[in-house]
Amino acid sequence: MINAIFAVDRTGGLGFKGSLPWNIPEDLAFFKKTTLNSIVVMGRRTWDDPKMPKPLPNRENYVITNRPIIGYNVKTISGDIKKSILSLEQQNPNTPIFILGGKEILLETRDILDNIYLTYVNSIYRIDTRIDMNSFLSGFRALSADYQGKCTFMTFKSLIKDATISQPT
Ligand SMILES: NC(=O)c1ccc[n+]([C@@H]2O[C@H](COP(=O)([O-])OP(=O)(O)OC[C@H]3O[C@@H](n4cnc5c(N)ncnc54)[C@H](OP(=O)(O)O)[C@@H]3O)[C@@H](O)[C@H]2O)c1
Repeated sequence: MINAIFAVDRTGGLGFKGSLPWNIPEDLAFFKKTTLNSIVVMGRRTWDDPKMPKPLPNRENYVITNRPIIGYNVKTISGDIKKSILSLEQQNPNTPIFILGGKEILLETRDILDNIYLTYVNSIYRIDTRIDMNSFLSGFRALSADYQGKCTFMTFKSLIKDATISQPT
């Protein structure tokens, strides 16, 4: 199962100066609880976030990059990342995979996602990285919404998972 998990503000903003624009303990707790013991896949700029624990503990970490990652015991993915992630899914049928972002990686992997765990942060922040959420969520159906003060935790299921590339050789 290939999932994305990320948070956006009311404008689709998700990053600022290489980091999260906010610090919301409820969202961090949800992220931790949801991704523990899974495979997590992130873009190199997300990995480089100084606030990101390296690697995320109790999860198998993959970084998507064209460069080597030196000094950390972490695996890297490059090239045809959709094919690589689908192979990872086939090799680990009992372990969920979570795509953590950032924007570049979410856009590249959108059509191989099964589910999205999306936190809507109910404010507007100073942002330099933004996703057009109407476009991103087209082809996904909302399954649940949990309103919790600052955040709304939503899940979406894909109606468009690309079956033509879901058979890696
Ligand atoms: N709100 C949230 O939930 C959330 C979640 C995650 C991230 N973020 C934020 O999003 C921002 C980062 O997003 P971003 O879009 O700038 O960067 P990103 O998606 O994290 O990483 C982009 C990098 O991924 C690598 N990459 C992409 N496609 C590749 C491919 N096909 N093959 C090999 N490498 C590939 C490249 O790394 P190389 O240059 O090393 O080759 C590229 O520079 C940060 O502000 C971060 O804090 C927010």
